[in-house]
Amino acid sequence: MAQPHSIERPLWTVVGEGAIGLLAAARLYRAGYPVQLHRRVNGPFQFVFQSAAVSQQIHLPHQAQPPYSYVLLPVKAYAVLDALHQLLPLLADNAQLVLSHNGMGTIEQVLPLLKPSQGLWFLSTSHGAFKSDDATVVHSGMGQSVSGALNQAALAQQLEVEQAMQAALGPFTVLEDIWPALWLKLAVNAVINPLTALHQCKNGELENIKYAAAIRLLIEEFVLLAKASGQEVSIEAIEQRVALVIKQTADNYSSMQQDFAKGRRSELDYITGFVLKQAEQHQLQLPAHQAIYQLLLQKSPR
Ligand code: PAF
Repeated sequence: MAQPHSIERPLWTVVGEGAIGLLAAARLYRAGYPVQLHRRVNGPFQFVFQSAAVSQQIHLPHQAQPPYSYVLLPVKAYAVLDALHQLLPLLADNAQLVLSHNGMGTIEQVLPLLKPSQGLWFLSTSHGAFKSDDATVVHSGMGQSVSGALNQAALAQQLEVEQAMQAALGPFTVLEDIWPALWLKLAVNAVINPLTALHQCKNGELENIKYAAAIRLLIEEFVLLAKASGQEVSIEAIEQRVALVIKQTADNYSSMQQDFAKGRRSELDYITGFVLKQAEQHQLQLPAHQAIYQLLLQKSPR
């Protein structure tokens, strides 16, 4: 099927070729948005989008054309700054940039690099997607997404971003304050990811009673930090969320487990590392997070 022609829908640029980026690109395309991929190498790019309902070839332009007005940047946290330095000269003066990744610590790095007229968003998604090969993305789990504006310039174009992200990664909700959602997601990632990476197990394995004490400790320490950082969270709420995600994703390997299994760089520094850096600023000791960080550092490929 050819890309449905659209006059009024704005062109979105998706950065990279990761599973979430391709999922978003495919869904934007299917909703009639013009889409281009910003990749390290230019050249023909087509891929197959597979979901429970469809299997479709998606043809995108050979070369992304600047200036970029609407950009989705769904790259790993450690790759955000490099990608942004490449993008900065290509961004329109009133560009809208949507970050999406596990972990925290990039927003503070990105905001000062943007012009006051350029909007910044953070999007957190629970959609599941993976690449079964270089040119096939599989939408493996229907999820939802939340997002929040991080500066004034983002608010100026909320409607355009909201409509597109609804198509790309909806059901989609714009939150007035994204930070509680980010802290909750960080809590989930700071428990499930390092434990599954250390023990090289599926998420569901963490339901085993032998992990209960470690999970409880990581959560208790996390809540200490979150409270010191001004977040209103309870141990019970985080325990419930962690248990729910473990159940819902029982058959999955976490992203960090996979990174360690494949000897790739992981998001450890933006998950547990971020937690420890924040703890230091608040002069808090978090021995359980510290211990798992050290153990994983020893196993890290770099
Ligand atoms: O990083 C991941 O794999 C996911 O964020 C999560 C929620 C831990 C599920 O595997």
